[in-house]
Amino acid sequence: MLDYRQNARGDEACRAHHAATAVQLADLDRRARAADLDAAPGTGGFDDVLPGSAVAGVDQDLDKISFGHYASISTQFGRYLNVAQPPAKAKTVGELSAAAAACQGCDLWQEATQTVFGEGKEGARMMLVGEQPGDQEDLQGRPFVGPAGRVLEQALDEAGIDRRRVYVTNAVKHFRFTRRGKRRLHEKPNAAQVRACRPWLEAEIEVVKPGLIVLLGATAAQSVMGPAFRVSKQHGEVLESPFGIPVVATVHPSSILRSVDDKSRDAAMSSFIADLMVAAKQA
Ligand code: URA
Repeated sequence: MLDYRQNARGDEACRAHHAATAVQLADLDRRARAADLDAAPGTGGFDDVLPGSAVAGVDQDLDKISFGHYASISTQFGRYLNVAQPPAKAKTVGELSAAAAACQGCDLWQEATQTVFGEGKEGARMMLVGEQPGDQEDLQGRPFVGPAGRVLEQALDEAGIDRRRVYVTNAVKHFRFTRRGKRRLHEKPNAAQVRACRPWLEAEIEVVKPGLIVLLGATAAQSVMGPAFRVSKQHGEVLESPFGIPVVATVHPSSILRSVDDKSRDAAMSSFIADLMVAAKQA
């Protein structure tokens, strides 16, 4: 039986523990916010950098904090802690897609119209991974149906790949944007948002079991291959991924839309098609 002195000692120990945890949390918050600020803006072009190591450090430290404080941490710092939680036993893309419709693993669900999940069949030989849905994709609820999708479709066609036979998805399943008047301008997802969404990509890979994954642009490539990966250096090579499935990284189709003139657009498109042909041969 506890008497009042034991209770008082217990309370004191608990208060000290809470105070120490509060200091640790403040430090984690500071570093998590810094990691967020470091996320370079861009649209999936060459060498965009995700500060994944900073966020990974925060993750590791969170692991060290006692489980008893989990509730308080997730209330205060849920934005950094939460990740998507796909149903463990899902066997079909339909099951995953239905569950992802309610995902609040990061903050992006609040502004986006809907979750834009991957499309294609289980057993597709090739999986294409983009960055995140754009304005049109957000409105229509389907990946790569806007201007970047049209470039992708043309390149796939020229590389001899039938879009209807590949699985198409994104590293992040909600549209991130800033409002400028009536327009919604694409904003690159930050490292915490990419990390929060990764369980969906892993679940898609598990269910689809592709023979090869094509990573379109830096966000997709770094989400799978790590923050040090450079599309500019390793595009068009068949590489082993952490999933044990070969990958080919290439540019994001929107980078071709941003070409400054016809000559550079043609060169970028030819290089994109050549990378896709490498992937087609391997898949
Ligand atoms: N850009 C992407 O990365 N994905 C889409 O679905 C559309 C544009």
